[in-house]
Amino acid sequence: MAPGAGSEPWPREPLRLVWSLLAAAFLLSLLLQLVPAGLLPGCALFQDLIRYGKTKGAGAARPAACLAFDVPKRYFSHFYIISVLWNGFLLWCLTQSLFLGAPFPHWLHGLLRILGATQFQGGELALSTFLVLAFLWLHSLRRLFECFYVSVFSNAVIHLVHYCFGASYYVLVGLTVLSQVPLDGRNAYVRGKSLLTQTRWFHILGMMMFVWSSVHQYRCHVILGNLRKNKAGVVIHCNHRIPFGDWFEYVSSPNYLAELMIYISMAVTFGFQNLTWWLVVTYVFCSQALSALLSHHFYRSKFVSYPKHRKAFLPFLF
Ligand SMILES: NC(=O)c1ccc[n+]([C@@H]2O[C@H](COP(=O)([O-])OP(=O)(O)OC[C@H]3O[C@@H](n4cnc5c(N)ncnc54)[C@H](OP(=O)(O)O)[C@@H]3O)[C@@H](O)[C@H]2O)c1
Repeated sequence: MAPGAGSEPWPREPLRLVWSLLAAAFLLSLLLQLVPAGLLPGCALFQDLIRYGKTKGAGAARPAACLAFDVPKRYFSHFYIISVLWNGFLLWCLTQSLFLGAPFPHWLHGLLRILGATQFQGGELALSTFLVLAFLWLHSLRRLFECFYVSVFSNAVIHLVHYCFGASYYVLVGLTVLSQVPLDGRNAYVRGKSLLTQTRWFHILGMMMFVWSSVHQYRCHVILGNLRKNKAGVVIHCNHRIPFGDWFEYVSSPNYLAELMIYISMAVTFGFQNLTWWLVVTYVFCSQALSALLSHHFYRSKFVSYPKHRKAFLPFLF
């Protein structure tokens, strides 16, 4: 059977269902933003849920009931602390299993079975899973570093629902990755001695894409951070300015584009054929496209001199 090709009907693959529903919810939100203003009745709660940071608007313009659920956006760092710890633990468990044959803790093994781990087949997935989990952990570690040492946060806020979702998001992503690894009959995972023989061209391509996208995302976050610093690197304000350089020359939110590319690099590492991971990619596409569109509208409404050729999310397209 091809890597990642599951045989169970959809309702028995809870992870696919969850990622499909998330992708559908964000796609619908994106489509609603594309409807011309005034055609549909406005909903303050909906707008408050999908907007965060600079696109949330001035506090005075928002209903008091919404302000009560504000959480500082700088708490984004919490998501990455959770991810580094949780996905570091999963990576450690997988490494122990692959190289020493140590079984997963019972509760984790049970959880993975509930999430559908047993229905996947194919030895190549052990190396793919190991690499993708390592990428996810490295990505979270870099983002944590950026939150503390690169990004300069203003007093921007996110909704409490967004905060709770963000805190659980990387737990779910890590479990999704780990559930792709094949279980053998003894409830232990494929052993590491055959791991290197599983190396395929798409592992190398996925790794190169991951590094390339990560470098660009880092550069974009440096550019954003520098907008609020003087030449000596001292923070001098917390306003929003027009960013220039790197992928900002093509799109308004290249950091969101790079995020999508990072998840696509993982799909490549999975050998292109992992449906569950493509559903994760679809969710990331919809959520990042929505945020990029709202940012694009923010820039165009705030700055009359905003570059006309710059697209929202995808160079030359959208
Ligand atoms: N995988 C996912 O589902 C997911 C979800 C969300 C985010 N992310 C990723 O997390 C990263 C950060 O997301 P984000 O939404 O926080 O990105 P963002 O809105 O671009 O903000 C990044 C940093 O730059 C600052 N900033 C933004 N625009 C600025 C401007 N015009 N002038 C000066 N400073 C500016 C922000 O400050 P303030 O906002 O505090 O003013 C923040 O410190 C992105 O790479 C994104 O792809 C991933």
